[in-house]
Amino acid sequence: MREGTVTLVRREDYLAPAYRIRSVELCFDLEPAKTLVSSKLAIERNPQAAPQPLRLHGEGLTLLRVLANGESVSFRHEDGQLVIDHPPADESFTLEIRNSCCPEKNTELSGLYTSGSGFFTQCEAEGFRRITYFLDRPDVMAVYTVTLRADKAKYPVLLSNGNLVEQGELPGGRHFAKWHDPFPKPSYLFALVAADLVAREQKIRTRSGKEHLLQVFVRRGDLDKTEHAMNSLVASVVWDEARFKLPLDLERFMIVAVEDFNMGAMENKGLNIFNTKFVLASPATATDVDFFGVESVVAHEYFHNWTGNRITCRDWFQLSLKEGLTVYRDQEFSMDMSGGASARAVRRIEDVRQLRAAQFPEDAGPMAHPVRPDSYAEINNFYTATVYDKGAEVVRMMATLVGREGFANGMSLYFERHDGQAVTCDDFAQAIADANPGSALSVRLDAFKRWYAQAGTPTVTARGTYDAENRRYTLTLEQFCGPSPGQPFKFPFVIPVAMGLVAQDGSSLPLQLAGEEAPGGTSRVLVLEHPQQQWVFENVDAAPVPSLLRGFSAPVNLDDGLSDAERMVLLAHDSDAFNRWESAQKLALSRLCAAAQGLGPAALDAPLVEALRAVLRHPALDASFKELVLQLPSEGYVAEHLPVVDPQRVHEVREAMRAQLAEQLHADWIEAFERNATNEAYAPTVAQAGKRALVNMALSMLCLQSQRSGDPVWPGRAYQRFKDATNMTERLGALSALVESHAGLAEPALSRFHELFKDDALVLDKWFALQARAPELDGRVFARVKALLKHPDFSLRNPNRARSLLFSLTMFNPAAFHRADAAGYVFWADRVMDIDAMNPQLAARLARVMDRWRKLAEPYRGAAREAIARVAAKPDLSGDVREIVTRALA
Ligand code: PHE
Ligand code: ZN
Repeated sequence: MREGTVTLVRREDYLAPAYRIRSVELCFDLEPAKTLVSSKLAIERNPQAAPQPLRLHGEGLTLLRVLANGESVSFRHEDGQLVIDHPPADESFTLEIRNSCCPEKNTELSGLYTSGSGFFTQCEAEGFRRITYFLDRPDVMAVYTVTLRADKAKYPVLLSNGNLVEQGELPGGRHFAKWHDPFPKPSYLFALVAADLVAREQKIRTRSGKEHLLQVFVRRGDLDKTEHAMNSLVASVVWDEARFKLPLDLERFMIVAVEDFNMGAMENKGLNIFNTKFVLASPATATDVDFFGVESVVAHEYFHNWTGNRITCRDWFQLSLKEGLTVYRDQEFSMDMSGGASARAVRRIEDVRQLRAAQFPEDAGPMAHPVRPDSYAEINNFYTATVYDKGAEVVRMMATLVGREGFANGMSLYFERHDGQAVTCDDFAQAIADANPGSALSVRLDAFKRWYAQAGTPTVTARGTYDAENRRYTLTLEQFCGPSPGQPFKFPFVIPVAMGLVAQDGSSLPLQLAGEEAPGGTSRVLVLEHPQQQWVFENVDAAPVPSLLRGFSAPVNLDDGLSDAERMVLLAHDSDAFNRWESAQKLALSRLCAAAQGLGPAALDAPLVEALRAVLRHPALDASFKELVLQLPSEGYVAEHLPVVDPQRVHEVREAMRAQLAEQLHADWIEAFERNATNEAYAPTVAQAGKRALVNMALSMLCLQSQRSGDPVWPGRAYQRFKDATNMTERLGALSALVESHAGLAEPALSRFHELFKDDALVLDKWFALQARAPELDGRVFARVKALLKHPDFSLRNPNRARSLLFSLTMFNPAAFHRADAAGYVFWADRVMDIDAMNPQLAARLARVMDRWRKLAEPYRGAAREAIARVAAKPDLSGDVREIVTRALA
């Protein structure tokens, strides 16, 4: 990548490596300012490749020595690579390299870096080349033996992948540890840790009778916050063995928490490294949402041991091979862990909300790319919602098309064929299809795989007609997908549409397609594979309401053309909880969109308010489900459904409707608050969390109503609850209710919260985030964020802290960020450039919040373009940010 230009890596240019590395011996002399690395590589020529120089990746390293077969060899540097024009002619030879790097100056947090008083690594995707020269690509898999040497007092714990084979003392107060990982792995799965840590340990026995050691390493003082991570790990091991017959293959499985980390966590073989946010949890410091986050990230990284590590990616274009599949697996795990059907549905709704909030906008904007991208400038920019979350939906659709058991068989065949290999998304899809000959997937596999190749979110349009005379219902489905960057035209997708027909009285109707002898149940999957298709249902007694895309069976937008009255039937009765929720969302969305465009009142009509009241008061529905139904679609979601967006107008309209719900459901909120308050001992279960979520929502609504009526009772109660809370979910909920309603008591509560938790970094992140996310009022929130930037506890260096303030404002608080005076955009551009100088990956994430600038109304649009152009014009901009802003302006 040269300055000012964006050079692309293309999938079609893939070539197998000309050399392979069979084994590597690494030795580290760890010092923060200068770490010495010596590496001994056993290299083999690929007999299929033409004779050519050996080119090793290396970035920011100081090279000290190169020996080939023990002798000096000539080399040169070219394009950031170490080139050896004439390596030994033998089929295999050894290369010995000595180099140094500087961990304490590594603010990018990629490669070997220091955090607090320890050393940590992050190698995915291309960080290993910042540690030593190597063939740093995932299809080169080697067996690693690693020796670490460091000061014993400062770094008592020395870890790497695999098994500890030796350890001992060295002169000068130093010590060493030697690790061996028997599994060949790509360099991106390498890890080391040297720090002053303590571990929670647990032994478990897998079904084969083998005993394994599980360890969770944290800083001294954090041990009491590791129980939940350990429980989650044990549950993950048990689940993967039960559901997919995939056992733990390691004698020792370690998790290490680190405070400075760009992402959530990393699945290094046997030595997962985690952002503290996804390890540490105690009731007093973590919310229910945090507890679920820990559970799902621990599971995700553990599941990678098979889907990612045992079978890895041939190249980075195949990233979704491991990420989409592993997200699917962690979603399934979380559903299985949450219990009954209703709790599962709540999980599904949350996953879909996430998909729609992040992936749908991505797929409609300048960064739109297929699940398996065709090109990239910086691979780090492609750890996206599309690769992860849409990738998971693609796997889910396969599972829907072959059935649960068929999918399990497909997974078995995938491991039979490819264990130990670096493969492609095609290999995965082929295995699932081949294990299910004749299935709905196998008979149209090529067309199905367009989900990997084509970007964009298809729209499915559904229209039904009822023929009373013949008791026949005809459903017509059409699909269309607009152009994406580089893809002007799309072929039809294969779209599984799970559906049912609901009678006006709410009962589920039997589904008998024309030509069938008998009904095939009350819910079934139609496969839409052409631009337009029709299905005829027989023996339908009266005009039904179609319930389509049940459980969100495909990542599409659905235009079902239903009337309000029909949606009300589904909201009240649909046996599919997802569609029940979706009906309420659609009812509210249509009103929000109309009002935002001046085509309707900024108010909800009485029937909808009554329907929402009925849900809130419903005796049988779960609290967690009620809380989801009662939430109005977010400002961001509304914006995506408007042709042109005035963020201030969207905010105004939505706040008006929220205030209306606060007022008109006042008595119901009081009831919900009182009925769901629990005194049970805290447990992060779905049932308890649902009640706490609803109570917090009720409290917010009650404080909001007080803000308007001037009645001080509810802010007073919220403050009391804030003070007396015995867990963070309740404490933060009460604090949010005060801050979000701009109550006078918000200030004393915020100071008190800071005083209580000033030594807990993760809780301080919440303190910053909460203030940055408060609904804007006369520019106060924006002014506060600017002031907080100078707070002694604030730092742009720590990614969690930077996100807590900046991402909260720019991603989650549109009305505070999108200002008519452009101050928000100026602020954004300055911060992107500040962060870029330290951590390009993090800066590029922040840069992406402007992806949808073209949808903005003036004056926002012009001001946004100007701010992006100012970033793009910065001469020493990183390649990471350059790729984002170049695409945004293209
Ligand atoms: N592979 C990690 C995961 O999804 C994410 C990650 C990517 C972490 C790149 C760090 C760097 O589990
Ligand atoms: Zn992952």
